[in-house]
Amino acid sequence: MSKVTVVGAGNVGATCANVLVTSQVADEVVLLDIKEGVSEGKAMDIMQAANILGLNSRLVGVTNDYSRTEGSDVVVITSGIPRKPGMTREELIGVNAGIVKSVTENVLAHSPNAIIVCVSNPMDTMTYLIHKVTKLPRNRIIGMGGALDSARFKYYLSVALNANINEVEGIVIGGHGDTTMIPLKRYAAYRGIPASSLLPAEQLDKVAADTMVGGATLTKLLGTSAWYAPGAAAAQVVAAVIGDQKKLLPCSALLEGEYGEKDLCIGVPCILGRNGIEKIVEFDLNDEEKALFAASAAAVHKTNSALA
Ligand code: LAC
Repeated sequence: MSKVTVVGAGNVGATCANVLVTSQVADEVVLLDIKEGVSEGKAMDIMQAANILGLNSRLVGVTNDYSRTEGSDVVVITSGIPRKPGMTREELIGVNAGIVKSVTENVLAHSPNAIIVCVSNPMDTMTYLIHKVTKLPRNRIIGMGGALDSARFKYYLSVALNANINEVEGIVIGGHGDTTMIPLKRYAAYRGIPASSLLPAEQLDKVAADTMVGGATLTKLLGTSAWYAPGAAAAQVVAAVIGDQKKLLPCSALLEGEYGEKDLCIGVPCILGRNGIEKIVEFDLNDEEKALFAASAAAVHKTNSALA
């Protein structure tokens, strides 16, 4: 029996629950929100769709009753306010830190062995906050950002290459911020062929630049933060854990010297399995990438310093 709780039935949390149900990732999914009735309504809607789709999933919605999350294997935290057009993710810290702290405590009181997936923004700082609050071993806390940013990188790459979106490779490391993320252009590829040999340098630069502001672009178009890809990316992380997939996804992990950094959570390639972050994959960055990573880490440290 596997059980997953998603805290926050806003757009991202509900989409995550929907993907978990439609992909039949877990035996049981609980969607919890503080707003009366919202999680119940969304869960019913998703389950009625599951019936139409012929799926055998179980999703229940609950209003702030953490006892119903008891014994979850994985808990996804999406709680907090999303950004509005023109805002940075970092501006959300004041409101979201308090929410994420109390949600984390409630969640662990009922599921002391859960792997926690943090989605709330500013994501790297909220992941770090969860470490500070819980003092859990670092494998059990996964920040979802790099999986989403890499999906956006691959999207822009596929458009530039006019290629099937599933035939391109791209990885984004660093912070989950408009100026801190690092799409690794050197490793972008189309079926193993370096993208740098298929696209003019300026075009690859634009793919990377568009990726970095990918979330902001959507916020501007939609009037609020995006949800389909963020929800699906969170579900992708959950599936890798529940299914013990040993899947490599860039995630925000607590570094203890890897890539020359420590005492912060930031995006690095991680192997995800039943124990959460089972390995951080280190590989050689070139001088330019090293400098970008150091600058990204410095910016994330700066945001972390705003935590009370
Ligand atoms: C985004 C938000 C979820 O990147 O951080 O869309």
